[in-house]
Amino acid sequence: MTERADAGSEDSRVSERARAVEPQGIREMFDLAAEQDGDLVHLEFGEPDFHTPDHVVDAAVEAARAGRTKYTANAGIADLRAAVADALARDGGPRPDPASEVVVTTGGVEALHLAIHTVADPGEEVVVPTPAWPNPISQATLADAVPVEVPMPAADGFAPDADRIVDAIGPDTAAVLLTSPSNPTGRVFPEAPVERVVTAAADHGAFVLADEVYRDLTYAERPPRTAAVADRLDRESWVLTVGSVSKAYAMTGWRVGWLAGPADVVGQVTKIREHTTSCVNTPAQYAALAALTGPREPVEEMRAAFAERREYVLDRVDDIDGVSVTPPEGAFYAFVDVSALSGSDTEIAKRLLVDHGVVTAPGSAFGAGGEGHLRLSFANGLDRLETGLDRFEAMVAGGVLD
Ligand SMILES: Cc1ncc(COP(=O)(O)O)c(C=O)c1O
Repeated sequence: MTERADAGSEDSRVSERARAVEPQGIREMFDLAAEQDGDLVHLEFGEPDFHTPDHVVDAAVEAARAGRTKYTANAGIADLRAAVADALARDGGPRPDPASEVVVTTGGVEALHLAIHTVADPGEEVVVPTPAWPNPISQATLADAVPVEVPMPAADGFAPDADRIVDAIGPDTAAVLLTSPSNPTGRVFPEAPVERVVTAAADHGAFVLADEVYRDLTYAERPPRTAAVADRLDRESWVLTVGSVSKAYAMTGWRVGWLAGPADVVGQVTKIREHTTSCVNTPAQYAALAALTGPREPVEEMRAAFAERREYVLDRVDDIDGVSVTPPEGAFYAFVDVSALSGSDTEIAKRLLVDHGVVTAPGSAFGAGGEGHLRLSFANGLDRLETGLDRFEAMVAGGVLD
């Protein structure tokens, strides 16, 4: 018997790498919610409640009927890569070469996964300003790299703090994640901290992973794209831009995203994706093409609806004694400070779910500094938001304050 077979214990049957990855904290709330009866208000979802626009669905159906159901190139269909390049250029900054600097991925999540695998060697560090969507932290672990969580200042509403990020960049840094707008805080990186982070990263030979999946969902003027800032500083070869159609086009289930960046990195990503999903579902690529090249009205209508809900949630939270929120500048989340209530954020989230029927995501699921908060998604209709916030208010008024 080999040592592995002999041991036969839970610890030896699966890899250390797999065991090292924490279960995703938001999914844990889905699972708990699935066990509850009654009328639940879902404020935990990280996806729009809208339907994918009709012209996008039609494009996928037409592609499938026309027989566009075969594998595509690893990098994706040429028209979609060109549409991604055009969309990035329209948004300011350099237009990547669609032939060598854009790869279509299975959502932004695969772009991040492949990018981290491509640029980080085992033991190298991936710097992640937190609170953050937790997946890249686990993706770094899966790549045998070391995630370095850098909490942004809670007292300042989690505004990006370039000093803290730059201090965390060193000779072992392979990549720095710069997610703007942020999930869960909704904060946007202004130009000045981006300049500092890009400069520090490039000077250390580290890449900046600019996660822009929420960029179309901002509620004020948007600062320049990270790649545009880097271009001006002559450091564009250190920026990898991640995007997707998931959030702004209500297309989470279609699983289409992209990575854009220098040809040497994109080339390696394209090569290794043969061994993950090979290529993105072909009709879904045609759907994404229709989304990026079609009318903008559906995106604007959804953004306007999110903006209205955002105002509503902010007003309601403002009126509840003992909790507070820094207005999000983008995405569709309110990251509510519940640290004055008794119990941890996870306990509060569970109590809110089990006793009051409202599903939220506990802040500690978003890494260092997220504790003491609840993420309330406003990707839900105003009537459901009203019911959810009535219940939240009742819970707080019911005496959970210290
Ligand atoms: C910050 C952030 N980046 C990337 C993603 C990945 O989204 P998708 O894979 O659907 O493009 C998400 C999804 O929630 C996210 O919140």
